[in-house]
Amino acid sequence: MEKNIVWQLGKITKAQRVNALKQKAQCIWLTGLSGSGKSTLAQALEMKLHTAGQHVYILDGDNIRHGLSSDLGFSSADRVENIRRIAEVSRLMVDAGLIVIVAFISPFRADRALARQLFESDEFVEVFVDSPLTICERRDTKGLYLKARNGTISEFTGISSPYESPENPEVHLDSANLPVEDCIEKIWCKMQKLDEFFQFD
Ligand code: ADX
Repeated sequence: MEKNIVWQLGKITKAQRVNALKQKAQCIWLTGLSGSGKSTLAQALEMKLHTAGQHVYILDGDNIRHGLSSDLGFSSADRVENIRRIAEVSRLMVDAGLIVIVAFISPFRADRALARQLFESDEFVEVFVDSPLTICERRDTKGLYLKARNGTISEFTGISSPYESPENPEVHLDSANLPVEDCIEKIWCKMQKLDEFFQFD
């Protein structure tokens, strides 16, 4: 279908925006089961980066589903669309020069791969927040696993909807055993590595 739309080139480049903010714009993509610790890690990382003077923003599944994705449920098709939207918003945020921390279950490999493709290779850090289902279910902080088991919630990730583990994430966190501080340190180290060859004017 002909769409009759053309890309508008702005007068300020991404490089200029990044230079003004004096930071390497990046997307830190946290994926894992509900209750694996994504939001906790996102907030701790945000605090560390903010304290270090960086411009950072969190996109969190539970929050985004109140607004941008409030029309979406948890069918496979809706999850694909949810992640597509988040990937595009993240790309815009990185283009604006920000560090964006994405905390979504993002259960499907193909969708995470599509998200990755929107970024330069040194801009995307996939973090597998790897807590086994048994532990997430035992914690059940939101009471959702219980509802999924008794059938009140359908298509629940890990119970009645699949989660496809990352095969080659930049960072793999054993979040059930590793303290939050150590998890954050591992992500931070990876970010610094990508930052290493980055030059500001
Ligand atoms: S995703 O699969 O599309 O990436 P997302 O991260 O936005 O999911 O939302 C997950 C959050 O929604 C969970 O942390 C949980 O609080 C809530 N939720 C409600 N229903 C479901 C469900 N069927 N499966 C998974 N999470 C659900």
